[in-house]
Amino acid sequence: PRIAVIVVAAGSGTRLGQEAPKAFVGIDGHTILRHALRGVFEAPEAQIVVVAPSGREGEALTEAREAAGDRAGQVSVVTGGATRQQSVAAGLRELWPSVEVVLVHDAARALTPPDVFARVIDAVDRTGWGVVPGLPVVDTIKRVDGQQVVEAVDRSELTAAQTPQGFRRDVLETAYAVASEEFTDDAALVAAAGHRVAVVQGDALAFKITTPADLDRARHLAVPVPP
Ligand code: C5P
Repeated sequence: PRIAVIVVAAGSGTRLGQEAPKAFVGIDGHTILRHALRGVFEAPEAQIVVVAPSGREGEALTEAREAAGDRAGQVSVVTGGATRQQSVAAGLRELWPSVEVVLVHDAARALTPPDVFARVIDAVDRTGWGVVPGLPVVDTIKRVDGQQVVEAVDRSELTAAQTPQGFRRDVLETAYAVASEEFTDDAALVAAAGHRVAVVQGDALAFKITTPADLDRARHLAVPVPP
């Protein structure tokens, strides 16, 4: 395939307060990872690289093969690193020669609809830029200095960045090769390397499962994985 999706699932999920690493926490009868992979496999055809926590690679492969059905040949699992950035770097080392566009997706955004993937791929193809799905910020955001509110930030200038974030492969690989610090997301890493990044419409369902309240919300909103 011309597209690859790196699904980072190697986080511990400390803030979720569950025993298992976050990707293996159940939403219904199925895990966060399994739900995330359903969206990935409903999106355009791609090589899928799942980045799993050390010791959980076998389980991740089982879930990925289940989600893949007759596309199991397009799936591989690698071991993640200590940070999200290291986990993405591990995924990048697995890409097949045919891949030209890479999407990086948080497994924790388990309910992301397939059309978000399609929008991101389309925008990368049209612009050659990095692409992030974004949503308008609904809260009033204040800049603070300790306890003191300094000013309100103009919301119209803000977007809340989600995943999947998409890049031309050469751009993403070069940006990772020169990155010398930790960035909060792949778009920031790519921008620091001097590349432009565009925003496309995100989706409320692409929220990241981080806290127990997020998990409750996912449990209410999840559509069962088909058998
Ligand atoms: O911790 P947070 O929810 O921000 O992590 C975002 C995504 O990055 C999650 O899907 C998580 O599994 C992944 N991650 C990773 N390796 C790490 C840390 C986070 O793959 N070391």
